[in-house]
Amino acid sequence: MKFLVLGAAAGGGLPQWNCGCRNCEEARAGTIPASGQSSLAVSTDGVTWSILNASPDIRFQMQANAALHPRHLRDTPVASVLLTNGDIDHIAGLLSMREQTPFTVFATNEILSVLEGNRIFDAVSKEKVARERIGLGQAFDLHDGLQARLFAVPGKVPLFMEGETVQTDLVGEQTVGVRLWDERGIAYYIPGCAVVTDELLEQIADADHLFFDGTVWDDDEMIRSGTGVKTGRRMGHVPISGPDGSLERMAGLRAAKTYIHINNTNPIWRPDSSERAAVLAAGWQVAHDGLEIAT
Ligand code: MLT
Ligand code: MN
Ligand code: ZN
Repeated sequence: MKFLVLGAAAGGGLPQWNCGCRNCEEARAGTIPASGQSSLAVSTDGVTWSILNASPDIRFQMQANAALHPRHLRDTPVASVLLTNGDIDHIAGLLSMREQTPFTVFATNEILSVLEGNRIFDAVSKEKVARERIGLGQAFDLHDGLQARLFAVPGKVPLFMEGETVQTDLVGEQTVGVRLWDERGIAYYIPGCAVVTDELLEQIADADHLFFDGTVWDDDEMIRSGTGVKTGRRMGHVPISGPDGSLERMAGLRAAKTYIHINNTNPIWRPDSSERAAVLAAGWQVAHDGLEIAT
C-alpha cells in the first residue's frame, strides 16, 4: 500500500483562521509548515486512489498532489472516499467533489445518516456517487486490490450534533477505525479515538503500519493554552501523553506508527519541542502534508 498524507492537522487546520497560538503564528510566519485538515489517500498501485476522510481543504490537497489530478477530460484517479465519522473536517470535502464524476462513498449506516440528514449533501448526486453502507466487521474493496474492514472505536457523535449531555466513549457506528490490507501488508487508520482500550490494542496487534489520533499532547492542552474550554477526551480524542495516553498504551505494538489529525495547539508540531522529541524517541513519526509512506 502507498499512503499519501493530504492533511495532517485536526479540524481547523494549522494555522486555524481565528487562532493566534504559538503554532498558528509560527505556521503563518513559515517557521513551521502549515497543514491542511485531516485526510489520507491510499492506493495499492499508485494509479487508483481512495481518500480516507474528505476534508474542507480537499481542493487544495488534490491540487498539491499530482497523483490525484485528472488524467484526461473529466476524470479522477479517486475511486472512493471512506468516512470514519461525521465531523465537518471529514465530510465537508465531499461538497467539493460534486461535479458529476462517479466515485463511491463508503461509511457505516450511522455516518451516512449524517449526510442523509443534511440536504446540502444532495448536491453530490447519488446517481453518480453511490453511498455504500458498510457494517462493522464486514470486509469490502475500497478499490481493486485494496481490502478494508471497519471496527468501532470509542468516540462520540459529531460536534455539530451534540445534545445537552454527551457520551464521549460510545462504541458503535458513529466513530470507526479502518483496517486496510493488500498482499503486501496491513495498516490501520484511526484519526479519532477517545480511549485506547485493551480491545483496540488486540484489534490492531497485527498492524504493519498504524496511523493514529494525535490531536492533543496533553488532555488539558486547549484549556491551559487559553484556546478552548474542553479537554481532549471531551472532544473524543485520547491524549498522546500520560499513563492512559496513546504513547504509553501503544508502546508494545510492533507496527510502524504515525500520529495524524494533530490539533494546532499540539507542541509536537514544533521540531525543537521536547514533546516531539519524546514521540520520535518512542518510534513514532509525526505526519505532515505530502508525507508518503509505503508498506
Ligand atoms: C474533532 O475531531 O473533534 C472535530 O473535527 C471537531 C470539529 O468539528 O471541529
Ligand atoms: Mn476532527
Ligand atoms: Zn492555534
